[in-house]
Amino acid sequence: MNRSFDLEKLVRPNIKKLVPYHSAREDFGEGLLLDANENSLGAPFSDNQQLHRYPDPKQKNLRELIAEWRGVRPQNVFTGVGSDEGIDLLYRIFCRPGKDRVLTTPPTYGMYKVSANIHDISVDEVLLDEKDFQLRVDKILDAVKPNTKMLFLCSPNNPTGNTFATSAIQKLIQDFRGIVIIDEAYIDFSNQESWADKVVEYPNLVVLQTLSKSFGLAGIRLGITYAQEEIVDYMMKVKAPYNINKLTAQQAIKGLQNWETVQFRMDAIKKERKELKDKLGQLKMVQKVYKSEANFLLAKFTDAKNVYEQLTKQNIIIRYRGEQPLCENCLRITVGTPDENKRLISALKSLGR
Ligand SMILES: Cc1ncc(COP(=O)(O)O)c(C=O)c1O
Repeated sequence: MNRSFDLEKLVRPNIKKLVPYHSAREDFGEGLLLDANENSLGAPFSDNQQLHRYPDPKQKNLRELIAEWRGVRPQNVFTGVGSDEGIDLLYRIFCRPGKDRVLTTPPTYGMYKVSANIHDISVDEVLLDEKDFQLRVDKILDAVKPNTKMLFLCSPNNPTGNTFATSAIQKLIQDFRGIVIIDEAYIDFSNQESWADKVVEYPNLVVLQTLSKSFGLAGIRLGITYAQEEIVDYMMKVKAPYNINKLTAQQAIKGLQNWETVQFRMDAIKKERKELKDKLGQLKMVQKVYKSEANFLLAKFTDAKNVYEQLTKQNIIIRYRGEQPLCENCLRITVGTPDENKRLISALKSLGR
C-alpha cells in the first residue's frame, strides 16, 4: 500500500469542481423519446441498430463484459476511443498545463510525450538500462520532482518488446506517490500476468489495454483503462458524453465473446514470432534480434536506414527506430502472416547479396 498517496491532492482543482455534462441517454433509453433532438425518421438507410439514437454514454454492457473478463468490477473499467483517449484524459485530470511534469522511460511509445506536449506538460526521461531494457528504479525515483504527477511504464514495451520485472514495477507503485500508468497494449502476447486486477489493491495504479492488438480490432478504436473507482469516475466526468459509438461497442462485445479465437490466434502469432526471430537472426546484416513478448520484433542491423529504404522501395513497410535512444540501427518489424514473413525474409536476403 502506497501510504503517501492522496488522490485529492493530485487531481487538478478545476476538475475536482467540474460539473459534468448531463446527457439525455443517461436517464432514459426507452419510451417515447423526444428528449435528445435525434432524427425521428431514422437513418437514411435500412438499419436495425437504432443508429438514429445516441449510444449509451456509460457503455454499461461493454464495461460489464470487460470487468468479468479481467476479474474486476465494472466501476474499475473505463472505455475510450483507443488507449490514446485514456492517456489524454489522465493528463487532463491530473496535470496542470505549464506547471506539472510526467516521467517516461525511453525508448518507449511516443504518445506519452506527444500528449504531454499537447497539454504543455514537461517530460522527464530516465532511459531504460542499456543492457537489458529494464527499468532503473533508483534513477526513476531520483528523477521525481514535487510536481511529478504521472509515471508511464509500457510493459511489454514498444519498441523494445520486453516486459519489465514485476519487482521493479511493484517498487515504483509503492514508492512513487503519483499515478503509475502501466500500458499493457501487448500484454496478451506475453507470459506475464496483467496488472489490471491489482488496481483495487493499489490506489495509484492505472492500467491501459486495447482491443487494437491481440483482438485484431484496431479499426474500431476501443481502449480500456482500469483504475480505482474514484479515478474512473473522474474519467467519466471529463470524457466527451458519447465517446464510444454504437458500432464500436457492438464490435467490441463481439470480440470479447470470441476470446477463445483471440487466444488461438495469439498462439499462432507467438509461434510465427519465434520463427521470424530465428530467420532474422541468421541474416548477416542483422546483429541482434531482441527477445520480444509482443507481436513485433526489434532487430539491430548493420545499416538499418539503408535496409528500411530498400524495403520501402519494394513496398515492404517496417518501422525505422534508429532515432530512439538505445535503438541505434534498429528496425521494428510487426510479425506478419507466414506468407508475409517469408516475403520479408526473401526481400532481406536479396538485399544482402
Ligand atoms: C504501447 C502502446 N500503447 C498504445 C497503443 C495505441 O493503442 P490504441 O490503438 O488503443 O490507441 C500502441 C499502438 O501502437 C502502443 O504501441
